[in-house]
Amino acid sequence: MRILAIETSCDETGIAIVEGTKTEGGFAFTVLGSALLSQAALHAPYGGVYPNLAKREHEKNLPILFEKFKDEKVDAIAVTKGPGLEPALWTGITFAQKVAKERGLPLLPTNHMEGHLLSSLVKNGNLEDVKLPVLALLISGGHTEFVLMREWFTYEIVGQTLDDALGEAFDKVARMLALPYPGGPEISRLAEAAREAKQKSDFAPLGSSQRSQNQTSVSLPRPMIGTKDCDVSFSGLKTAVLYALRDRGGIQSLSAEEIAGFAREFEDAATDVLVHKTRRALEESGAQTFVIGGGVAANKHIRKSLEIVVKENFNEVEMRLPELSITGDNAIMIAEAALTRALSGKKDAATDEIRAVGNLSISSLT
Ligand code: KG4
Ligand code: ZN
Repeated sequence: MRILAIETSCDETGIAIVEGTKTEGGFAFTVLGSALLSQAALHAPYGGVYPNLAKREHEKNLPILFEKFKDEKVDAIAVTKGPGLEPALWTGITFAQKVAKERGLPLLPTNHMEGHLLSSLVKNGNLEDVKLPVLALLISGGHTEFVLMREWFTYEIVGQTLDDALGEAFDKVARMLALPYPGGPEISRLAEAAREAKQKSDFAPLGSSQRSQNQTSVSLPRPMIGTKDCDVSFSGLKTAVLYALRDRGGIQSLSAEEIAGFAREFEDAATDVLVHKTRRALEESGAQTFVIGGGVAANKHIRKSLEIVVKENFNEVEMRLPELSITGDNAIMIAEAALTRALSGKKDAATDEIRAVGNLSISSLT
């Protein structure tokens, strides 16, 4: 079965064609084509995604991307119905409706978070041999949630952010540190550099100039790290960065090393919280598979730290990490989620109606 999928939930316009077949252990996917246009540079001056600009850009980009695929034969069209920015979602839905009608093809409305989750479970092109229950940590610009999949296509949110999504916190802290949007990759790059520099200085002789740099390093809280649940909160961490910056006379009084030190401590704090809560969620759920997905799942330090905690404490749990090419928003993940459902003969009642739903929850799926 071949599906052409359209993704326009945020600031990436994506179209992809994926072929899927049922195999003994699950599903095999072949990506036949994928095109993605990022609007990040356009939104950068606003420090975040500006919905009406996103809508206009999707409207402009969709026909351009579709040109590449217009002669391909497919069996169905899939489109993201939510969650996301409603004006942006509608552009994709309207476009998909038109294509499906012209070709007499079924239209499959698809949940963006299910796309992140299922595509992250794919290993070497195959969604096979997945041991249930699956615990997924979805970390993106709009979401931060622990999702438990006890059975295929049923999702229970067992923990989530009480305020900011992790990607949003990365982006806001980056902005405070005068780093460009999107801030996640920038913070990660600086944090990495600061970690390397620290390692070097740890081996430098006492009293050397390299050593003294660390004395000004900032220390940030680990919000909710000890609470007896799997919820997280990043708004206080963000505010702590703001105050720490103010205490030091503002960003303009900081050296490049000190800014990198802030980036590192912020990334460390967020990672510590995720590590603790993942441990708890794995213990409480008895999950057999752990997977991470969403834009922030590209973060090297988070990936490595979570791999270590699973390896050291949960011998029987298989960890799956998404390829870096699909952590950010894309249409391949929408095609794969739609294919997994279609090939299972599973149609979601909650997505029957083709309408953009900005706050669509993954737990509403059946
Ligand atoms: O999933 P995604 O592409 O869009 C949403 O559905 O929200 O996630 C985008 C988010 C942005 O906040 C971006 O800063 C963050 O993912 N991000 C990262 C990294 N790469 C992207 N955050 C931390 N480290 C990264 N390497
Ligand atoms: Zn996303």
